[in-house]
Amino acid sequence: MSITSAQSFEIILNGIRRQVRGVSPRMSLLDWLRESGLTGTKEGCAEGDCGACTVSLVDRDAHGRPTYRAINSCIALLPMFAGREIVTVEGLARDGALHPAQEAMIRHYGSQCGYCTPGFVMSLHEGAHRENMGGCSAIADQLCGNLCRCTGYRAIRDAACELFKAPVLSANVGVPRYEAKLRASSAA
Ligand code: FES
Ligand code: FES
Repeated sequence: MSITSAQSFEIILNGIRRQVRGVSPRMSLLDWLRESGLTGTKEGCAEGDCGACTVSLVDRDAHGRPTYRAINSCIALLPMFAGREIVTVEGLARDGALHPAQEAMIRHYGSQCGYCTPGFVMSLHEGAHRENMGGCSAIADQLCGNLCRCTGYRAIRDAACELFKAPVLSANVGVPRYEAKLRASSAA
């Protein structure tokens, strides 16, 4: 059976509805993001081991409240996300303010070359929005899918510990910029 270009479909990317047309069904979410100019999401191993390509898949309850699931975009095919909502590292900051996960990484010097940093930030972001993190003890589980070759893990663990000790971020605390964009595009 020959594989042809996928039909047109919609993805919500960082709060903006995007129409995807004419892509190969073999294209990964990571390749599409980077070809779309969102190069904050990195390719490391390209086989689901290093976490450099981590993004968040968003699910919403009946009230529109989001839950976030960190996924490896290098091993996810783009058409799997038809009609779904994705947040990348570019979508985390809200006007003039970084996400607390980004702020914690900066405060604790959790980055050197920076190649792994967007992936760590996305895993921290997921953890910050989970209700069952259980504080610092959950760090190993939350970050076990992310590898760093140069910073060393202590600084990153310190950032995670500070972040996960704080109260869980509710969907309504510091509503991110992409939430506002999504509401605007839904109302249009
Ligand atoms: Fe390494 Fe995706 S690039 S897990
Ligand atoms: Fe260089 Fe992590 S900061 S690989």
